[in-house]
Amino acid sequence: MLGIQTQSSALDQVETPLLAVGVYQDEAPAQELSSVTEEATSGGDFKGKSGTSVVMYTGGKIPAKRLMMVGLGERGSLTTEKLRRVAATVSRKARSLEVESAAVSLPLVDAGNMIDSSQAISEGAILGLYRFDRYRTNDRETEDLETFTIIFEDSEDAGDVEGGVHLGERTARAALLARDLANEPSNIATPEYLANKARDIATEHGMDITVLDRAGIEAEGLTGLATVGRSASNEPRFIVMEYWRARDDSAPPTVLIGKAVTFDSGGISIKPTGGMEDMKFDMCGGAAVLGAMQALGELDLPINVVALIPATENLPAGDAFKPGDILTMHSGKTVEILTTDAEGRLILADALSYAKRYEPAAVIDCATLTGACIIALGDHASGLMGNDEDLITKVQKAGEAVGERAWPLPLFQEYTDQIKGDYADIKNSGGRGGGALTAGAFLKEFADFPWAHLDIAGTSFGKKGNPYTTKGATGVPARTLVQFLREID
Ligand code: BES
Ligand code: MN
Ligand code: ZN
Repeated sequence: MLGIQTQSSALDQVETPLLAVGVYQDEAPAQELSSVTEEATSGGDFKGKSGTSVVMYTGGKIPAKRLMMVGLGERGSLTTEKLRRVAATVSRKARSLEVESAAVSLPLVDAGNMIDSSQAISEGAILGLYRFDRYRTNDRETEDLETFTIIFEDSEDAGDVEGGVHLGERTARAALLARDLANEPSNIATPEYLANKARDIATEHGMDITVLDRAGIEAEGLTGLATVGRSASNEPRFIVMEYWRARDDSAPPTVLIGKAVTFDSGGISIKPTGGMEDMKFDMCGGAAVLGAMQALGELDLPINVVALIPATENLPAGDAFKPGDILTMHSGKTVEILTTDAEGRLILADALSYAKRYEPAAVIDCATLTGACIIALGDHASGLMGNDEDLITKVQKAGEAVGERAWPLPLFQEYTDQIKGDYADIKNSGGRGGGALTAGAFLKEFADFPWAHLDIAGTSFGKKGNPYTTKGATGVPARTLVQFLREID
């Protein structure tokens, strides 16, 4: 992984193959650089608009070999998300220039505080370089950039800048793990593979881990998971990770739940062929929870956290579950199956009712749950639902802080009415209208504690990216979860 360093220095003293500096719109670049920048800025080529940049050779006028000016837009409009994107633009440019290191000077205060800004810069620089190329045996691309140095003026700020880097490296790593797990195809990333990854993380960071296999899942009465996983030859797993680190060890834990359908064919209600390959991403929720648990261990946060990951394939076979079947769930509620493609809510419902034994302070589930959520919000925000306004606000704020937007959606009684069963308590589909909300209303039936639900169908993977994401998994909402956990008092 790209190493982030920090250095307190004047810009005309930095020796580097590439020095990148942020420039506000219609403002002059830093005075010390004027000998190099004058031509580009006075000629009008570069005005500091957001999304623009220019690279020049310095001709020995300063120790840096190349200077990159990156537009920051108007001074008042700077956010940590913008810094994240600018840092990624710089690290990508540095890699394409095939230099082994780069240095960057960006405003650390105008977007908030120094710690948050240097965290965002570190995340952007690291995440921007991500690529999933382990299965490419020929056309190897350019070598990876090795070091990225954040330059700051006042040496008194070193502690804050280094603190932000420490955080940013770990939150970025959480997202990288989530991306790697999710990009792996389903013939590799099976439920057992995810369980092994969870075991590695638990061992490394002193967490307790329990993994239920098919027999264990049945014995525990996790009917939803057992039923969806019944017809798959890659056996289902129920992964339980427990991290007990609060000073008051009886403090009620936060429970994180992640949907991990390693491949969702739809089952007997099989999906159309077009785009079905994307259903390897139907475990992005579980992948994000694993990323967050890794970061939790690396940051050594003094809190109690439990992760629950129901992992399974959803495939058709002779013994597969069928529309019309009625399941008695882990909680005792009965569910009528209208479509075997609404499998995520079945495995999450069991995880939610399993969570009850912990008497949790809060439960957050994340799941690629509905295509309807993509219709509602596109890939610009995760759908956010729940039964506790305060928790919903906290999750939304955590997402906003890390550039992973989540937007509240309603769970009106009418959505619950829509899933009332004809032959059982509830049914697993409420029809086309409000599909993200009826899925949320279904989960609500099993949430006996403060609970928030993130529908990440639109945000956790995509066709194209922004400066710090690419085609494929984005890692959303791993960094949101870490941010939420960091804010627990
Ligand atoms: N995994 C899908 C949802 C999904 C769709 C995620 C597209 C990412 C991209 C989920 O299991 C599903 O199939 N949901 C159905 C529910 C419906 C049958 C009630 C859907 O959204 O169509
Ligand atoms: Mn499905
Ligand atoms: Zn699914």
